[in-house]
Amino acid sequence: MKILVTGATGKLGTKVVESLLKTLPANQLAVSVRNPEKAEGLRARGVDVRQGDFDHPETLDTAFAGIDRLLIISADGDNDTRTRQHANAVQAAERAGVKFIAYTSIVNATESKNLFAPTHVATEAAILKTGIPYSFLRNNWYLENEIGSIQGVMSGAPWVTSAGNGKVGWSLQQDYAEAAAAVLLGSGHENTVYEFSGKPLTQEELVSELQTVLGKEISVQQVSDEKYAEIMKGLGLPDFVIPIVLGIQESIRNDSLDVVSDDLEKVLGRSATPIKEALAQLVDHVSKMN
Ligand SMILES: NC(=O)c1ccc[n+]([C@@H]2O[C@H](COP(=O)([O-])OP(=O)(O)OC[C@H]3O[C@@H](n4cnc5c(N)ncnc54)[C@H](OP(=O)(O)O)[C@@H]3O)[C@@H](O)[C@H]2O)c1
Repeated sequence: MKILVTGATGKLGTKVVESLLKTLPANQLAVSVRNPEKAEGLRARGVDVRQGDFDHPETLDTAFAGIDRLLIISADGDNDTRTRQHANAVQAAERAGVKFIAYTSIVNATESKNLFAPTHVATEAAILKTGIPYSFLRNNWYLENEIGSIQGVMSGAPWVTSAGNGKVGWSLQQDYAEAAAAVLLGSGHENTVYEFSGKPLTQEELVSELQTVLGKEISVQQVSDEKYAEIMKGLGLPDFVIPIVLGIQESIRNDSLDVVSDDLEKVLGRSATPIKEALAQLVDHVSKMN
């Protein structure tokens, strides 16, 4: 059996690969990366490093050849670009005769008003159309998305949000990565849709946990979208990013990320990392960055 992970030099992909290598012999693992030089370390450990770019479907024919189980990690562009790129990857998987496709989607993809949902709905549909057994790994928000806010409050800023009372089921990338590895390595995951989510929390509830970790009071400023955009511009975010960060606040506010599910625990065979412990890890990470 040969497993291949795309996006293996990205942040999530790196964690998936390391999780797989804890039990999978390196010669049964392949990665498809845009720049093989970035994966030299993996090659040195015996992983089959292949060049593949979703924008160049011909590279994917070689990259996916002889692969049994494939994890497509969603790419990082705008919705239209990603939808096209993912369709290229799915079609290449079909041409290569891949026997199982896992795909990193977003929680509640088909029902939610999440700004990122359209790409994931389209990619899930493309996978379904192939008839290849699949598992949709519908990840909730990465707790790592909050590193900028954590950094801010550690240097004395308030926690600023326009997300209102919307809840988010944050979890660490490490938990999502280990769950993806479990799906690739395990059996019985054919034709499954997993809603991977931590316990949903409001901004105030998350910040309350962070206060305990940091041992100091943090003020939460609930502001309008206009004020939020103004503050983000003031922090130096480029103009093209402003609609995206506003869309994220809106997606939280409209409850798109408020998903209660024990799928993550079930697939991991353990609890997700408790939120306090997860925040402590990120605080430690931020401290080391400074
Ligand atoms: N649920 C959430 O909260 C959340 C938050 C942020 C992102 N995401 C999604 O999760 C994905 C993984 O997150 P991450 O933190 O690991 O992001 P990341 O570090 O930016 O990784 C993105 C990966 O996508 C790959 N990629 C981009 N364009 C590609 C192309 N044309 N062909 C093949 N691969 C391509 C990149 O390849 P290279 O290594 O070659 O650059 C990289 O490995 C993101 O791409 C995004 O779709 C989810």
